[in-house]
Parts: sequence; structure tokens; C-alpha cells
Amino acid sequence: MHKDLQKILISEEEIKAAAKRLAEQIQRDCADEDEVVFVGLLKGSVQFMADLLKNIDMKCTIDFMCVSSYGKSLKSTGRVNIIKDLSEPIDDKNVIIVEDIIDSGNTLSFIKKYFTAKNAKSVRICTLLNKPSRREVEIDVDYIGFEVDDEFVVGYGLDYLEYYRNLPYIGVLKPEIYE
Ligand code: IMP
Ligand code: MG
Repeated sequence: MHKDLQKILISEEEIKAAAKRLAEQIQRDCADEDEVVFVGLLKGSVQFMADLLKNIDMKCTIDFMCVSSYGKSLKSTGRVNIIKDLSEPIDDKNVIIVEDIIDSGNTLSFIKKYFTAKNAKSVRICTLLNKPSRREVEIDVDYIGFEVDDEFVVGYGLDYLEYYRNLPYIGVLKPEIYE
């Protein structure tokens, strides 16, 4: 275990199993759809996006978007800035947003509206982690890997000050790291 962690919350094996389960669910739901595009939100979704896609066996494309609402703090500012936009149009496409964690819901609520305004045929959300206790805006989440408590977690794409994204598991930081 990394020295800055208090504990490992979700192991690599558990995450891989969740990615497989969610991919199967998505595939069942999309069986009759063509034009499916997976949009990963950078940078947090990189590891999960890769694991999810390896379990997807249907015609699809992928794209990435990068937004920020956090700056350097642990709490969402509620304002979402687009740092990198989609590289292809999504008109009439069935979009599946792939996210690392839903916290206040501000990011996903903004992106869902943004994609709808861009004439997506459907917009669904697939998140590795969900922190429902912190929600500020209501949002429908279609696919959830794990529910987590109100603790700041890192690893498997998730960062604190850009570090720890490379860890192959999800863990809870020691409080002294951010206090
Ligand atoms: P929201 O807009 O508040 O839902 O925030 C979503 C984004 O906040 C996620 O994509 C993460 O980048 C970040 N975030 C929220 N909670 C955590 C956490 O516990 N660890 C690391 N990043 C987090
Ligand atoms: Mg993120």
C-alpha cells in the first residue's frame, strides 16, 4: 500500500469485476442502438475507461473531454470550465459519459445539459464511484461501480493535487496529507 494512504478501500480485482459487470449492463441496454460513443472525462476516468472498454464488444467510438470545477481545493466550486472539448460531433449519437466519481453532481449536470444541447440522441452516465451524501444537484446515474462514504479517495485515476492517479486501487488519504 502507498505510504500516504490510510487504507485501501477498493482493490484492483474488485474494480476490474465492476468494470466487467457495468460493461455487460451497458451492452444489454445498447443492444438495439447503433452510434454509441463513450466519452471519458479527463483525467480521472482514464484507468476506468480502459477497463470498461476492454469488456465492451459492440460497434462504438470513443472521445474525451476535460473540464474542471475543483481548482486546487477538495470541494467543487460549482463552476465548470471546459479545458478540452469533444473532438467529434455527437448529433444523433447515444452518448455514455464515463466518469471517475460523482460528488456534488455539478460536473455531470453541466455536461449532460451540454451534450443534450449538442443534439445527442441519448445521454447516459457510467461512474466508477458515487458519493450520494455530497449531492448538491440531483442527477440520474445509470451505471454505478461503487457507492462510497464522504471520504476523500484517490487512485485508479482519482487525484489529490494531480498525484496518485497511477495507483492500481482506490484508497483513502491520510488526513495529514491535506490538513
Ligand atoms: P462534482 O462536480 O462535485 O460531482 O465533482 C466531480 C469531480 O470531482 C470528479 O470528477 C473528481 O475529479 C473530483 N472529486 C470528487 N470527489 C473526489 C474524491 O474523493 N477524490 C478525488 N477526486 C474527487
Ligand atoms: Mg474528475
